[in-house]
This record gives sequence, structure tokens and C-alpha cells, in this order.
Amino acid sequence: MQGVQGTYNDKVVRQFAVMTVVWGIVGMAVGVLIAAQLYWPALNFDVPWLGYGRLRPLHTNAVIFAFGGCALFATSLHVVQRTCHVRLISDRLAAFVFWGWQAVIVAAAITLPLGYTQGKEYAELEWPIDILIAVVWVSYAVLFFGTIARRAVKHIYVANWFYGAFIIAVALLHIVNNIAIPVGFGKSYPVYSGAVDAMVQWWYGHNAVGFFLTAGFLGMMYYFVPKQAGRPVYSYRLSIVHFWALIAVYMWAGPHHLHYTALPDWAQSLGMVFSLILLAPSWGGALNGILTLSGVWHKLRTDPILKFLIVAISFYMIATFEGPMMSIKTVNSLSHYTDWTVGHVHAGALGWVAMISVGSIYALLPRLLGRERMFSVKAIDLHFWLHTLGVVFYIASMWIAGVMQGLMWRATNDDGTLTYSFVEALNATYPYYLIRLGGGLLVLGGMGVMAWNTWKTFQAAKSVAAQPILPVDLSEARA
Ligand code: HEM
Ligand code: HEM
Repeated sequence: MQGVQGTYNDKVVRQFAVMTVVWGIVGMAVGVLIAAQLYWPALNFDVPWLGYGRLRPLHTNAVIFAFGGCALFATSLHVVQRTCHVRLISDRLAAFVFWGWQAVIVAAAITLPLGYTQGKEYAELEWPIDILIAVVWVSYAVLFFGTIARRAVKHIYVANWFYGAFIIAVALLHIVNNIAIPVGFGKSYPVYSGAVDAMVQWWYGHNAVGFFLTAGFLGMMYYFVPKQAGRPVYSYRLSIVHFWALIAVYMWAGPHHLHYTALPDWAQSLGMVFSLILLAPSWGGALNGILTLSGVWHKLRTDPILKFLIVAISFYMIATFEGPMMSIKTVNSLSHYTDWTVGHVHAGALGWVAMISVGSIYALLPRLLGRERMFSVKAIDLHFWLHTLGVVFYIASMWIAGVMQGLMWRATNDDGTLTYSFVEALNATYPYYLIRLGGGLLVLGGMGVMAWNTWKTFQAAKSVAAQPILPVDLSEARA
């Protein structure tokens, strides 16, 4: 065992990295299918489990928790070992976290199409799966923080702060939002009711965006952008301000999902104000990532991984500019219920989350296999263009469709009657649904290229030797 102790646990990182690609393809394929169903409704083939209402939550759960989740597990467990200069505290716990999370995903993939759901967006899974999630998540927290506690350096690198906040916040959100009374193995009712239920749900929903879809991925940004650029992060001080400002503000912005509802008016306005403030830490942090390239901008010309990472941050800036604007009540009265929201979501999800994950996995995988780079750098470049074009088609079409829908729905004639019927607005939307589908196919095609490249990289790697723990710079060492 002596040998193992002197090395990193890369096995669990490799497993999660591979599953990121696998679940990315599955989740996005379902996204493409539901995008096609919105254009050709007959594609549900009158089979209940192929119905849009059941596949949509399958898509969101697969891309967020399976694809995004595996990318977060892979990178956090890599980063915590390399920056703390220690092996994970337990190989068995690491294996449990991996297999436990895959079990959650498989359970979701079976129960959602069968129609088992709590009816809470992004928290659809029923209570037995929720309990499994809680157990796996607490094990993950023990693994991550236990490793930090055993670190060989005094300093805790900022990426770990973001991963740590993500782990703690997600545990809190998941447990509080899922407190329910079971009435059978596949059915339960939340303990909350009415406006309180809505508030708890969107406190969860918005912070799932803030901590699952943002904080953890900022951890990736803070590790992989400097690493890939070969430069230290632009400002360490800014990263600390970024961290505290972001986590302090996000928690209060949830009510912007409930404008013009039964939620008290003051709570809606509070949510709006905090959402507007959120622009500052979001952009401050994003600039910290982008400016890390100061002096090495030329690398963008030749390094497609860096392109993925930097364009991801640019989409993050787009989404975090747009979000505060949409939280203004008057703007929200136009955007809510329209495809504008869907455009915003995918600017964040496909632009930011998927691109930073893909870029990080491309940077990470070869290192885990003892190689300099992926099998084909050209294929990474092809993936970059397919993905970027796909995202642009997706979000531009949804922005146009959304604003158009909002304007058509609210247009009135002189006598006060509606100018357009709902079906007229729907008809006008169809061409944009087709463009979105095209964008989705490009993105999915890009993931296919990634799968091929990953396969070839594994094939080309000789037997993988465990990598020794790097010695700590003496100035960093614990006294
Ligand atoms: C090939 C790529 C993708 C395609 C074609 C696609 C397509 C879709 C479609 C058609 C919807 C339903 C929209 C509606 O109900 O009107 C949707 C919803 C959603 N997707 Fe995707 N998606 C893709 C990738 C992703 C990724 C990578 C993520 C997250 C990391 C994501 C997150 C979401 C979320 C959160 C929603 C719910 C949006 C809302 O409720 O407003 N999608 N997607
Ligand atoms: C400063 C940051 C942000 C703010 C203030 C913000 C604000 C908003 C607002 C106002 C809505 C529309 C609510 C509605 O009308 O129902 C929304 C929806 C949404 N946003 Fe953001 N956003 C931000 C960043 C992001 C990012 C970076 C992502 C993804 C990575 C994201 C994902 C989502 C999702 C998934 C929804 C749809 C929720 C639903 O299912 O209804 N947001 N956001």
C-alpha cells in the first residue's frame, strides 16, 4: 500500500470524466428530441413515456445533474488533490460516491419517463432517490473536506473555496426543498403549501443555478484557465472579493422567479434588487478569469481548449447581464412564460456550463492518462466551432422568438380585444423552433466528436501508471 499512498487517486477522476462525456451525449440527445417534438409533436408516437412532459425533466436532470454533476465531481476531486498535495482520504468512499451518483442517475432515467415526479422543477425525483442523493452528497462532502483537512500546504487555493461553497449549499438546498411526507414508494407531498411552497422551491431553484450551475463551475475556471494559459490568476484579491460577494448575494435573489404571483410584493422587489446587485460580482469574477490571459492572448489562436474556456466565460457574462435585466419586474412581465427565458437558460447552460466543462475535461483527461494532449487537437477545434455555432443558433432564435411572443401576447386593439390569438403566436414561433433544433444538432454533433477523441486518447494511452504526489514548495509547507 506504500506505493498507493504516495500517489493521487486518479481513478475516480477518470471515471467521472468519462461519464461526463457519456451523460452529456445522452442528456443533449434528449434535448434534441424534445426540441424536435416542439416542431413535430407526433414524435411522441403516442407512447406515454416518450411524451414531452416526461422527457423534458429527463433532459434537465440528465444535463444538469448527470453531465454537469459528473464534470463537477471529476474536476473538484482532481483539483483538491493537486492543490492540497495529498491523496483523497479514502478510496472506498471515492468509489461509493462514483457508483452512488451513477445509481441516482439511472434511477432518475427510469422513474422520470414512467411519470414519477414531485412536480417541483429541478427537484422532480421522488423521496427514495432524494434520500440516496443526500447520502451520496454527504459522503462527497466528507471526501472533499476531509482531503482539505489533511492538506500538506497551509493555503487553500480559491478554486476549492468555490467547490466547497457549492457542496455545502447544494446539501442545504436539496434537504430543505425536499422535505416531504411519503404516501407510498413513488409518491409524496411537500410539507410546505401555497406561496411558502413556491418560495422554498424558487429559493432552491435559483440557488441551484447559483451554486450547482455557477459556483462549482467557477471553481473550474479558477483552476483550469490559469493552468491552460500558463499564467497566475489575474488578481487573487479580486477572487476573494468575488467569492464572498457572490455567495452573500445569490441567496436572496430567488423571488425573481415569482414576479406577479401571490408572493408578497416586498419579497418580489427584494429579489429584483438583489438580482441587479448580482451583476457586479458576476462580471468582476468573469473579468478575473478573462484577464488571466493578459500577455498571452496569442495562445487563443492556437489552443482550442483555451478557446472553450474563454468563450464559456463570455457566455457567462451574457447570461449574468441578461438575468438581472429579466429580473426587473417590467421586463419580466414581457419575458416570463416566453422562449426568452429558454434562451437565457441555454446561454448559461450550453454557453457557460457546457463549454467550461468540455474545456476542462479536454485539459484534464490527457493528464490523467499520462499524455501531453488529447489524441486530436484538430478535433477539439472542430468541436469548438460546432458547439459555438450551435449555441448561437439556439440562443439567438429563442431570444427573437421570446420577444416576439411577449409582444404578440400583450398587443391589443383599440376596443381592448387581443390582436393575436395564442395559436397565431405559436405559428409565428415555428421557424425559430426549427433553427433551435439545428443548433441543438450541431452541439450534439460536437459531443460525438468529443466521444471519438476521448476513445482514441484512451486507446493511445499505454498502461496508466499512478502519478506521484508532487512535492510541496517549501515556502508553502505547513509549519
Ligand atoms: C443539444 C443541446 C440541448 C438542446 C437541443 C436542448 C433543448 C431544450 C429544450 C427543447 C428545452 C425545453 C424548452 C421548453 O420547454 O420550451 C430545454 C429546457 C432546458 N434545458 Fe436544454 N437543451 C440542450 C442542452 C442543455 C444543457 C447542456 C443544459 C444544462 C447544462 C440544459 C438545461 C436546460 C434547462 C435548465 C431547461 C429548462 C428551462 C426552463 O425551464 O426555462 N440544456 N432544453
Ligand atoms: C446574475 C445572474 C443571474 C440572474 C440575476 C438571473 C435571473 C433570472 C431571471 C430573472 C429568470 C427568469 C425568471 C422567470 O421569469 O421565471 C431566470 C431564469 C433562469 N435562469 Fe437565470 N439569471 C442569472 C444567471 C443565470 C445563469 C448563469 C444560469 C445558468 C447557468 C441561469 C439559469 C437560469 C435558469 C435554468 C432559469 C429558468 C428557471 C425556470 O425553470 O423557470 N441563470 N434567471
